Amino acid sequence: MDEKVRALTAAKSAAGYHAADMVEDGMVIGLGTGSTVYYMIERLSSRVREGLKISGVPTSYQTAMRAREYAIPLTTLDDNPVIDIAIDGADEVGPGLNLIKGRGAAHTREKCVAAAAFRFVVIVDEQKVVPRLGAPVPVEVIPFAVRPVMTQLRGFGCRPVIREGVRKDGPVITDNGNFILDCTFAEIARPAELEAALASVPGVVESGLFTGFADKTTVIVGGEKKCRIVTSADVVP
Ligand code: 5RP
Repeated sequence: MDEKVRALTAAKSAAGYHAADMVEDGMVIGLGTGSTVYYMIERLSSRVREGLKISGVPTSYQTAMRAREYAIPLTTLDDNPVIDIAIDGADEVGPGLNLIKGRGAAHTREKCVAAAAFRFVVIVDEQKVVPRLGAPVPVEVIPFAVRPVMTQLRGFGCRPVIREGVRKDGPVITDNGNFILDCTFAEIARPAELEAALASVPGVVESGLFTGFADKTTVIVGGEKKCRIVTSADVVP
């Protein structure tokens, strides 16, 4: 295996395992989506085999399928509207613990689950921690309104592009039956204001900007040998 890939895999696995070890008996867990969450599920599964009693609310079909494969009991937000810990990956972690999520088009359910949780644990490798948010912001939009939404979003100074499928012709269809617009901004100077502005556009379901959870967020930055922990106490106001 290429050295960089090996180091990245070790970092993701360290972060995922660290988060899984924070889970306590009887908890309801928000199960995020993505490759780092995969390692968390792997570790959680071995703890469940050893007798840990938990149930998980999956944020995507991918996670639900993996969790079933790994024998993690599942539940829903209907049955468990309050979650003890939501554990999820991120694409960028910026100043103030503001996040960009949604590479996997799962950010709408991920945001619902994070909002329902007492604690939000974000698992990343060092490359995801950035001095300024700058990745394209995924915006989930109902297909009916995609053209007017694109026009309005251009007015916010971004270049929206409809996300195309891989090994599927045409647009990506989310687990909620919607499209994704990947929106590149020249600069994201005020992430919270941008998140609110995006949410105000009729037809927008949810954006991948997560700016409202800093107080309950713990970021676990995986490294090859150990993890670095960042909380809101480390955030410069
Ligand atoms: C999916 C997400 C993922 O959590 C995010 O993309 C991180 O994924 P990975 O751990 O594979 O880098 O937001 O919508």
